[in-house]
Amino acid sequence: MKTRLKKNLLVFKGLDEISVFVIEKWLEISHNAIEKNGRFAVALSGGKTPVPLYNKLVELKELFQWDKTDIFLVDERFVDFNNSESNFRMIKEALLDHIDVPVENIHPVPIEEDAELSAVQYEKDMISFLNLANGGIPRLDLVLLGVGEDGHIASLFPGTSALNETGKLAIATMPPDISKRERITITLPVINNADNIFFIAIGTNKAIIIKEIIEGDNRLLPAAIVNPEEGKSVFLIDEGAGSLLSQYQK
Ligand code: 6PG
Repeated sequence: MKTRLKKNLLVFKGLDEISVFVIEKWLEISHNAIEKNGRFAVALSGGKTPVPLYNKLVELKELFQWDKTDIFLVDERFVDFNNSESNFRMIKEALLDHIDVPVENIHPVPIEEDAELSAVQYEKDMISFLNLANGGIPRLDLVLLGVGEDGHIASLFPGTSALNETGKLAIATMPPDISKRERITITLPVINNADNIFFIAIGTNKAIIIKEIIEGDNRLLPAAIVNPEEGKSVFLIDEGAGSLLSQYQK
């Protein structure tokens, strides 16, 4: 049973219910996109949160038109695809290996000599696969985002210059904890131009940041500053992640 708190926030019992919701919406959004444009473009998040959702997509794979679905990634670590930290590896193992999606519909972040080159190539890939005019911004039908405990989304971290990017579609970025890997991420203009943005957060370890994003006024938090041009965005959280929200009533 989901509880509606405000227009852009839905609180669910757990990730199972969130997955069912996302799958229902995915079907509706993809159906409409395919009817209108002949194709459906989705950008998937890495991290741990969406793994059960990807497994559920596999369980229900017969329902989807994979041949007309283009799959992008919201971000990637600058590592080879066979590295355990690779988001592509996770998404491949959880989803892509088990569905009938043509290989040409899959758009991983290419790993080049360095992260900057990878970002440049990923931008080129988006431009060519999505037939964008020069300077055009993709209109992704659906973007799935996890939320970090510091409020980051994709690999857009609080307080980094990546948040000021206005022209590029993909950039290289470094997490504030420099012991971590360099990353490649889609930029805010790409996220803000999407038709549908789902933020997914579960567990009490996300409760403080979710409260700050939803109720606070911190303009430095990437998850809080997403502001779609024309599309819709919604936070899908479980009761644990929503446990500190003052307006949370069962
Ligand atoms: C990644 C992500 C990142 C992630 C958040 C939340 O590559 O790790 O794209 O933005 O979604 O860090 O991660 P969890 O889902 O593991 O909590």
